Amino acid sequence: MTEGSNTNGVSRRNILTAAAVGSAATAAAAFGTAASAQASGAQPAAGAGRVAVVTGSSRGIGAATAKRLAKEGFKIAVNCRVNRDLAAAVVKEIEGAGGEAIWEQADVRDPVQVRRLFEATERAFGGVDVAVANAGVMSLAPFSTMSDEDFDTMIDTNVKGSFNTLREAANKVRDGGRIIAISSSIVQLRSPTYGPYAASKASMEIYASILAKELAGRKISVNAIAPGLVATSLFLDGKTNEQVAGFAQRTPHGRIGEPADIAATIAFLCSQDGWWVNGQTIYSNGGVI
Ligand SMILES: NC(=O)c1ccc[n+]([C@@H]2O[C@H](COP(=O)([O-])OP(=O)(O)OC[C@H]3O[C@@H](n4cnc5c(N)ncnc54)[C@H](OP(=O)(O)O)[C@@H]3O)[C@@H](O)[C@H]2O)c1
Repeated sequence: MTEGSNTNGVSRRNILTAAAVGSAATAAAAFGTAASAQASGAQPAAGAGRVAVVTGSSRGIGAATAKRLAKEGFKIAVNCRVNRDLAAAVVKEIEGAGGEAIWEQADVRDPVQVRRLFEATERAFGGVDVAVANAGVMSLAPFSTMSDEDFDTMIDTNVKGSFNTLREAANKVRDGGRIIAISSSIVQLRSPTYGPYAASKASMEIYASILAKELAGRKISVNAIAPGLVATSLFLDGKTNEQVAGFAQRTPHGRIGEPADIAATIAFLCSQDGWWVNGQTIYSNGGVI
């Protein structure tokens, strides 16, 4: 038997193509997209009329993600823990550019507040199609001097807070949607002083790969993104200009990342073309590892 045919004379390639188009149609139907998208096999997620919740989006990577997804046509729920003015400013910028957004103060460490964030989004926009578990904190110290308080805050925010977000996402994100957890390239780099932070971020990669399997059949793609060094207060605070320049030099692309670089990777996963990436960790870091 030659490749491409079976004993009934039906092209094996045709069978595979039919199966693929069938699953595309299911996802497209779930997202209510045009027949042309189904015919091309494109997988819907991105854009007009869809709704995205981005935790920790008052500044840094989250704010850039909120603005980028708004540009792609998503309605956005911006979230902060304390910086209400910054969250409101992100909403204002999105609205100024013709988009739609709300902001909601919610501490991701508290499951009740996270539920409230998702419910407020559903009330405002009718549903949720994308959830980005981005809120995170970092404290650095060698094992010998890491304080209990800093350790607990990182675990509560990064491990428990992201779990709270992903649990809501698992229940609320509509079929055909996307769920993204923000890991860190430090999971691979493993530099001194990053022990508990790197351990907390490794959990994002485990969460994403397991949740992707749990949501089988719903056409929802779940992934982790692991940024490298990104110019936000989380990374820059406490570092000298010389130290930052040193990091830039060690990056093949010659600079550290900007929040918009990570937002672009997130936007790709939220696009139709991103659908087939599922259960993975994408290292988005300019080649630093
Ligand atoms: N920057 C990097 O180099 C880098 C590299 C790899 C991974 N990451 C990851 O990327 C994510 C974003 O980091 P970033 O650099 O953009 O940090 P950032 O500039 O410090 O911003 C952190 C954001 O998270 C929010 N947040 C913190 N704790 C929260 C809580 N308990 N509940 C709700 N929101 C909370 C903050 O809200 P408020 O403004 O209200 O405080 C803020 O919006 C984090 O998960 C981080 O681990 C960053």
